[in-house]
Amino acid sequence: MRIVCCALRSNTRLGAFAPALLPKELTVEAIRIIREEHRSLAAVLHGMVYLVREIRDRGARPDFALLGAMIYYIDTFPERLHHPKEDKYLFRLLRMRHAEAVPLLERLEQEHRAGAGKIRALEQALARFQQGGFNEFSAFATTVDAYADFHWEHMRAEENEVFPLAEKYLTAGDWEAIDAAFTDHRDPLFGSAAGQAYEELFRRIVNLAPPPIGVGPVR
Ligand SMILES: [Fe+2]
Ligand SMILES: [Fe+2]
Repeated sequence: MRIVCCALRSNTRLGAFAPALLPKELTVEAIRIIREEHRSLAAVLHGMVYLVREIRDRGARPDFALLGAMIYYIDTFPERLHHPKEDKYLFRLLRMRHAEAVPLLERLEQEHRAGAGKIRALEQALARFQQGGFNEFSAFATTVDAYADFHWEHMRAEENEVFPLAEKYLTAGDWEAIDAAFTDHRDPLFGSAAGQAYEELFRRIVNLAPPPIGVGPVR
């Protein structure tokens, strides 16, 4: 998943990540891909929080099509592409190699499962805001902020806690298997077609979003 817009990627919250550098001898494609996907997700989350703030602080008119596209993206992209890859390859192998990582991995897997319910709450809060007007805005804003914090913390734990353990305990053979899975274009779930679909959706969000978060029309 490539980030296609300069504005949507400028997420100050990404400063919270302190990605560990891989040893020079390792060229782990999977880690690079996961980091890129985190940045795309973080950019959309940041964009959504920004839009909510503009409505709350500046009285901006809500763009329901854009907010809906953002929620659709963070629903389908993590659910169908990102989390399954982490569970099925990276987490599974790390469990086998380092038992002490199991509580951390169980927590993150539980968050993957909980994420679907949190997204439903987000969709419902948006629908109530759209149908019920500004009486429903504060509940929507609270739900957006809470979801963004949840997902930022989840990605931070993966980058700052799981990646260093994976780099330390996984074998060269493990990385070969993980890299092959993350770059295997034959898999219909994880392959290039799915990646392209999400990239197109991300581009649509960028084109809908007004500056400074996208390149869409100024409202
Ligand atoms: Fe995850
Ligand atoms: Fe992740």
